[in-house]
Amino acid sequence: MYNSIIKGTGYYVPENIVTNDDLSKIMDTSDEWIQERTGIQQRHFATKGKDTTTNMGVRAAEMAIAKANINKEDIDFLIFATLSPDYYFPGCGVLAQKELGLNTIGALDIRNQCSGFVYALSVADQFIKTGMYKNILVIASETQSPALDLTTRGRNMAVLFGDGAGAVILSRTEEVGKGILSSHLHSEGAYAEELAIITPGVGKKWVTELIKENNPEDISYFPHMNGQFVFKNAVVRFSEVIVEGLKHNNLTEKEIDLFIPHQANLRISQFIQQKFKLSDEKVFNNIQKYGNTTAASIAIALAEAVEQKRIKENDLVLLAAFGSGFTWGSVVIRW
Ligand code: COA
Repeated sequence: MYNSIIKGTGYYVPENIVTNDDLSKIMDTSDEWIQERTGIQQRHFATKGKDTTTNMGVRAAEMAIAKANINKEDIDFLIFATLSPDYYFPGCGVLAQKELGLNTIGALDIRNQCSGFVYALSVADQFIKTGMYKNILVIASETQSPALDLTTRGRNMAVLFGDGAGAVILSRTEEVGKGILSSHLHSEGAYAEELAIITPGVGKKWVTELIKENNPEDISYFPHMNGQFVFKNAVVRFSEVIVEGLKHNNLTEKEIDLFIPHQANLRISQFIQQKFKLSDEKVFNNIQKYGNTTAASIAIALAEAVEQKRIKENDLVLLAAFGSGFTWGSVVIRW
């Protein structure tokens, strides 16, 4: 069995910055409300005709490939996580493969929302551990802004989310005790509708029916969230899956060097930080700048943490995510 190490990281966010004050001009909200409840100060929104989920992912991937110091030809598999694909089908994996000019390697799409990057890393790790692949490109990218209801009606969701992309190169190592030590994945479909976009889809209403009905009261194509219920589940599941990851490796919270939580809400991250008694320098947060970028959030944060030299050789890095599905998971890494 081999191990997998993160050899290179990259990220990209669109140029267009939208502050809380910008949002308060188009809906009934305020910088104070948003910062107090979520910690978010601004987010980046994609520009139509310029940024797509695929091309942001590709820009992040190009940075990760350069940092990993490998050639594109060395990549033997591609995994793309997103809930906001450019096309209904095919997925962004094949589009990224085309844009990057990779040969006919396999391209797999992951649809696990805020846990997408953690799921993608876990899948990539299994392919490397079994010896099937040597270098896997993992991309997580989101263009969520066009799907938001940017009016007072949609304010509980609209103020939370942003666009952007992150990527890593996961590579084979024969060093023992290095790289991804374990990953733990969970889901609870009983709560699928608590954080979801329900239409268009074949389950409830297809796009042709929406157009035919042309009903301005039907908001089923906007994201819906039962905010407090999601919050309560998030803090419980985050905690459980962190404990699971640590226990599996006979580690304690004291040994964590850097915890990178999915950037859902600064209050959730602070709750977990207090629960596990982690000092400020042991927790990485960038939700203030980017909002919740769903699958991309941990990937962007990881790339920034590397860039800011917050991670050293042999550090114990813990990633944990929770989100729509519900899905949640953790990855324990010896850097
Ligand atoms: N600006 C101003 N007021 C807003 C608002 C906004 N953007 N969004 C909602 N409100 C109002 C509500 O209408 C409500 O008003 P009312 O009391 O007059 O009815 C009030 O603020 C409280 O709303 P509520 O939804 O109960 O707020 P909350 O304290 O639960 O905070 C969240 C809302 C979204 C910040 C919080 O529920 C949360 O963070 N949930 C988890 C989100 C999450 O992590 N999602 C992603 C998971 S991956």
